[in-house]
Amino acid sequence: MPARVSVQLTPRRRVPARATAVVVDVLRATTVLTVARRHGARAVLPAGTPEEALALRSLRPGALLCGERDGRRIAGFDLGNSPFEYGFETVGGRTLVFASTNGSQALLAAARARRRVLGAFVNAGAVLAAIAPDEAVTVVCSGKLGRFALEDAALAGWLVERLAARGARVEGPAAAFVRRAAPRDAAGVRALVQGSAHGRYLRSLGAEYARDVEFCAGLDTIPEAFEV
Ligand code: MLT
Repeated sequence: MPARVSVQLTPRRRVPARATAVVVDVLRATTVLTVARRHGARAVLPAGTPEEALALRSLRPGALLCGERDGRRIAGFDLGNSPFEYGFETVGGRTLVFASTNGSQALLAAARARRRVLGAFVNAGAVLAAIAPDEAVTVVCSGKLGRFALEDAALAGWLVERLAARGARVEGPAAAFVRRAAPRDAAGVRALVQGSAHGRYLRSLGAEYARDVEFCAGLDTIPEAFEV
């Protein structure tokens, strides 16, 4: 069991090389990338901007350009940010250059970590099992445009609560705070994610996006955890 666990409510600082980072963007980036890895995507290269993504892709001609702005697919990109776009037939064996608004920033903040694990509610239990052997864990919440996002803090709290129950030391005020924000069960997770600011925004974009939110609000529907 990790000796200690800390939380970043937004990707403020680089995660130190000795720590394992759990990168969290429930709506939708880390949920999407978990699905993509499960469907055989070989590698994920985060990009901070669409321009950086194009430059990265120019160095890897076979890679897929993926990403969103304001929730919608970036013009000229191959894929947006819906879990339903990342099927095996599309991403199997492929490298993904990934430029989402917040999730990519959090992945970049964790670039030097010992391990970079994708965290989402759909695979929360598998993430917990995957980080169990690690000495130090930092949960990096993507937030929204540098500000707090309830759904990310809630997942961080869900993880901290269970790690603490197994003996991990909770480090810092953010980790102590999110413990109290943690939903208790699948119904609590669903209500919180659906009711979050970004959840409401995505649902306002239409039925397809509402379907994405519903998918991201599932608890433990995927029994695997992945690193990028
Ligand atoms: C993000 O990375 O900012 C989100 O995943 C955005 C979204 O998909 O709506």
